[in-house]
Amino acid sequence: MRSRSRVLVADELKHFLQFIDVSSDVEIEFLAADDPVPEGDYVGLLPLLSRRIDEAVLDRLPQLRVVANYAVGYDNLDLGVLRARGVAASNTPDVLTEATADLTWALIMAASRRLGEAERRAREGEWRWHPTMLLGIDLRGRTLGLLGAGRIGRAVGKRAPPFGLKVAYWDRVAQPAFESAIGARRIEKLADLLAAADIVSIHVQLSSETAGLIGAAELGAMKDGAILINTARGGIVDEEALCAALESGKLRAAGLDVYENEPEIRDCLKRAPNLILLPHIGSATEGTRRSMFELAWSNLMRGIRGEPLLTPI
Ligand code: GLV
Ligand code: GLV
Repeated sequence: MRSRSRVLVADELKHFLQFIDVSSDVEIEFLAADDPVPEGDYVGLLPLLSRRIDEAVLDRLPQLRVVANYAVGYDNLDLGVLRARGVAASNTPDVLTEATADLTWALIMAASRRLGEAERRAREGEWRWHPTMLLGIDLRGRTLGLLGAGRIGRAVGKRAPPFGLKVAYWDRVAQPAFESAIGARRIEKLADLLAAADIVSIHVQLSSETAGLIGAAELGAMKDGAILINTARGGIVDEEALCAALESGKLRAAGLDVYENEPEIRDCLKRAPNLILLPHIGSATEGTRRSMFELAWSNLMRGIRGEPLLTPI
C-alpha cells in the first residue's frame, strides 16, 4: 500500500471540506489556532493569515513541500526561509479581488457619510430630523487616491466613475490599461498623491518597504479633511499617528478593516467617533471564502505532488 501524504489544515477551515474531494492517499490533520505546529512528516500546510510561518515552524516540518496560505496577503510567511528550504508557497489572489473591492467601497461610503455615528445615534434614539445633523461629504467631483494599483486597487478604482470620483494612483508599475479604462492618473511621488486625494485607499502588500508607510508626515501631507481607508494590512499605517490625525480634525474620517496587532484594536482607535472599524472582513462572503479554500486546496495538492502551483508566490 502506498503511504499516505499527511497535511496540516487550519481547524477553522473544516467547514469548507464539504466543497472538495479529498483523495484517499491524503490524510488531513486539523491545526487549532492556538496550538503550535506539531513535529511530523507532514508534506503540506494550509494555514490562516494569523499563523506566522518561520524557521522555528519549518524546523518541525522537515518533509514539508508546500505552504498554501489561505489569504492573498502573505506577510505571515518568511519567504526567505521557505525558499532556502525548497518549500513552495502560494496565496489566493483573484478570487477575493471583487469582494475586497466591494468592502473597500462600503468603508468609503460609511466614512464619507458617517454611518458609524449615524447607526449609533439611531440605535440610541438620540435624534430627530435636522438639516445639519450628521453631515458628510459628496463624493462627486472628488479624487480617490489609490495607494497601490494591483488587482484589488484597480478593482476599487473601477467602481469610482459611477460615483463621479476621479481616480489617481501611486504604484511602482504603470497600469496603462487601467488608466485608459477609467481615466486614472498615475502620480509618481507618494507625497503628491496624498496631497491630491480627498480619499486615500491603501492597496499595497505589507513588506519591509511598506511597514509604517503612512506615518505622521504622510498623514500631514494629506488634504485637510481627507479620508483614509485601509483594507490591506494594519502595519502599513502608524495607528498612533492616525489617532492623532483623527482627533485633531486633520482627517475628517477613516475606515479600517485591518490592524497592526490583530485581533487587538488599540483604545485610541476605538474611541474615535469618526472612524469605522471592521474586524478584517474584506473577503468575507460565502462564495469568496469557499473559492479561496478551493484554490488553496488545489495549490496544496499540486505542491505535495511536486506539480506547478496555480498561484505561486
Ligand atoms: C486577507 O486579508 C487576505 O490577505 O486574504
Ligand atoms: C492585490 O492587489 C492582489 O495582488 O490581488
